[in-house]
Amino acid sequence: MAVVLNSRPQVAGFSASFLQVQLFTYCLIMQSLLITSVETINCSEPTTEALLTSLRASVFGKTEVRPVFNLKTPTNISLSFTMYGILGVDEKAQVLNTFLWISLFWNIEGLSWDPVECGTDRISLPRKKLWSPDIVINEFMDENRAPDTNYVYVYHNGQVMDGIPFHVISSCNLDIYTFPFDIQNCTFTFNSYQHTVSDIRLYFQEPVKNTLQSSLNMMTTKGEWELVDMLAEKPEIPLQADNNSWDTLIYHIVLRRRATLYIVNLLIPSCFLITVDLFSFLLPPKNVDRSAFKMTLILGYTVFLLLMNDLLPVTGNTLPLINAFFSLCLALMVASLLETIVITNILCCSSHYLPLPQWVKVIFLNYLARLVFLSKEPSDQNCEGES
Ligand SMILES: *[C@@H]1O[C@H](CO)[C@@H](O)[C@H](O)[C@H]1NC(C)=O
Ligand SMILES: *[C@@H]1O[C@H](CO)[C@@H](O)[C@H](O)[C@H]1NC(C)=O
Repeated sequence: MAVVLNSRPQVAGFSASFLQVQLFTYCLIMQSLLITSVETINCSEPTTEALLTSLRASVFGKTEVRPVFNLKTPTNISLSFTMYGILGVDEKAQVLNTFLWISLFWNIEGLSWDPVECGTDRISLPRKKLWSPDIVINEFMDENRAPDTNYVYVYHNGQVMDGIPFHVISSCNLDIYTFPFDIQNCTFTFNSYQHTVSDIRLYFQEPVKNTLQSSLNMMTTKGEWELVDMLAEKPEIPLQADNNSWDTLIYHIVLRRRATLYIVNLLIPSCFLITVDLFSFLLPPKNVDRSAFKMTLILGYTVFLLLMNDLLPVTGNTLPLINAFFSLCLALMVASLLETIVITNILCCSSHYLPLPQWVKVIFLNYLARLVFLSKEPSDQNCEGES
């Protein structure tokens, strides 16, 4: 410290660490010079009443400014949260709906008391009586609809702990191409709405691993979405004297859809109908009306698609792959119906045509038949009609 003070850098572009040390020493000097009202408070007796009286005199009502001696000192805020529930995802509006418990920690500079002398090491106080930071999630798309809470804890060393429930409706870029096996990657960006990096610095209260673990332990909703992973990062902001950027903490939330409902309700029935359609070629083409059967299947499939339309997500630009699968199924059914029509036509009306030329018979019955492992025995259809 003494070395730095002696050297006194005069150059304009001094480095960030120099600036920090200077700020720190500056604050120390200011602290000794200014007679501030917030300092170690003394209680006359170890009762809540005595502590409250002292607090009233020193910290209450100073809601307008950050609790620092000098406004050049940034307030350090540590943040952590627990994800308590994933309420849903709206693909059309591209929003994620979650419930968080956010905890914020900061310090009232200079405040401290002796836990023995004052009878307690922490006290809960109405939030309205103290300054509190304006931390928001940048992706907010709607107001916070969680119940209001009114109290914060103040500890004997001047630390304040604020816990806020948040019903977060946040925008999230949803990619539903692989529906229902999709994994979504949503982001929560925490920052102060108004205060720049020179006023408020944000820090992680705990490693993101702990956040993930506590969220997994606390999560009560076992809905469609499953929390898979959480990543956290803090973008580096170059510290300059007149920095107008905001300090941010970024969390990436990775969610996976539980696909069972969709497999049971969409994929398996589709596969069943396609299989039935395929096996209906085993029906004799004329005794039972095969084409009518296939037509019924197509009708059934259409009704099924109409009913299940609600389950499919809708967005503006991308179509899920599963829609292509459904279209393919329908196309296959229609193709098989057309095939049946052609086959029936050949079986019933071939007597009106001229007999096949010899070379066509040779090609089809000798060579092509061998390709598909057909024996030369004429197949014995029990429903040969006019042929
Ligand atoms: C509290 O007591 C200490 C010494 O016991 C004294 O230095 C300090 O000024 C007192 N603070 C207040 C606010 O009275
Ligand atoms: C989520 O997105 C972030 C940033 O775009 C990226 O760093 C991270 O790897 C992604 N996570 C997954 C699981 O895709």
